[in-house]
Amino acid sequence: MSASGNVLIENVLVYGEGEPTDLLLGDGQILAIGAGLEAPDGAEVVDGGGKILLPGFVDMHTHLREPGREDTETIDSGSAAAALGGYTAVFAMANTSPVADTAVITDHVWRRGQEVGLVDVHPVGAVTVGLAGKQLAEMATMAAGVGRVKMFSDDGHCVDDPLIMRRALEYSASLGVLVAQHAEEPRLTVGAVAHEGPTAARLGLAGWPRAAEESIVARDALLARDAGARVHICHASTAGSVELVKWARGQGISITAEVTPHHLLLDDSRLETYDAVNKVNPPLREASDVAALRAGLAEGVIDCVATDHAPHAEQDKCCEFAQARPGMLGLETALSIVVETMVRPGLLDWRGVARVMSERPAEITGLDDQGRPIAVGEPANLVLIDPDAEWTVHGPALASVANNTPYEAMTLPATVTATILRGRVTALDGRVYPKGAQQ
Ligand code: NCD
Ligand code: ZN
Ligand code: ZN
Ligand code: ZN
Repeated sequence: MSASGNVLIENVLVYGEGEPTDLLLGDGQILAIGAGLEAPDGAEVVDGGGKILLPGFVDMHTHLREPGREDTETIDSGSAAAALGGYTAVFAMANTSPVADTAVITDHVWRRGQEVGLVDVHPVGAVTVGLAGKQLAEMATMAAGVGRVKMFSDDGHCVDDPLIMRRALEYSASLGVLVAQHAEEPRLTVGAVAHEGPTAARLGLAGWPRAAEESIVARDALLARDAGARVHICHASTAGSVELVKWARGQGISITAEVTPHHLLLDDSRLETYDAVNKVNPPLREASDVAALRAGLAEGVIDCVATDHAPHAEQDKCCEFAQARPGMLGLETALSIVVETMVRPGLLDWRGVARVMSERPAEITGLDDQGRPIAVGEPANLVLIDPDAEWTVHGPALASVANNTPYEAMTLPATVTATILRGRVTALDGRVYPKGAQQ
């Protein structure tokens, strides 16, 4: 920590545009921007090396496994993974054990995240008690708690009863909060472990049809329309979901959607090896879906990228495909996958990366201190990116406790050089600096 609390970032390209400049940070804000700024006495100086500065990333979909499965991830380890990935805020899903369906749990998650101090960990509250889909959880109490819950989701499960979903949407509209749906009609996915298509048929794996997702996307758009509510679609994975979101928005329905990095890069041809590291919900789809998701994200039909970071223990992944748990790590690789799938092919520029990884997720979730313009007087939540660096993914070297990365041994473009939360450096050159740590 610098003595003055000031940080001077020298020689960066803001949004990857224009001429290199410097930024002076203090009191959690951007105090000045301009070439040749002087470092005040005691300021910490970060050499930007002509790299790209963006607003800190916001992940509206992450699983941190605390409470209950601290053997796979904790708020501490997940916060480190997030800071190393360039994130300044994450939303921790409610499918913990116990479930985050009361303010006792959601407040704990928020407080613990603040103690660690690497990233703002916003708790997601469950829509229904125990994620059981039967009875609405006390959303108002969670929203009013210290954790100020802004988003509710039964993620991991679909709120499949249309009457419960309708009530949840009506209630969310009156509270001014967001409901995020894991779109999966459970009657269509009984026993399913892979995308229903030629690959699963050949490999003898039970299929998860696109219609299981798309029927819920369509239904929830209509329920949101009637309730005058907003609805958010988690991990959209099919070309049809992109079309449905586009249609619904054209009708004036308040619907938003996210795509995961893995659905932007991987398809079901990965299943050939029967390696359960590729098992995820919704499943990896076909190349045509991947192309539609990329195009949808580039056009803004899909609003943002969310990691669905889902750590799992070795014994839950290295078993028979049908028995393995679904989910894959995402926080530390998300930027690189977005660069690989969207920036390199020319589908997004750096402004676009800021939009889909920071600005839109902050807007959708109602964070007023994240995803802000890089300008004087704005909160200093920032990420410094080296677009020319490459790195090779190695699971055990990641900050997550679990190792279930589908990108093992892949060489990926772009690294996060530094992450800054409210003017404090939380990650620099691959190391993290929790609250109170010496730099
Ligand atoms: C998630 C998990 O492991 O919690 N798994 C997954 O495959 N995506 C749950 C979920 O996001 O549905
Ligand atoms: Zn889900
Ligand atoms: Zn999830
Ligand atoms: Zn390795």
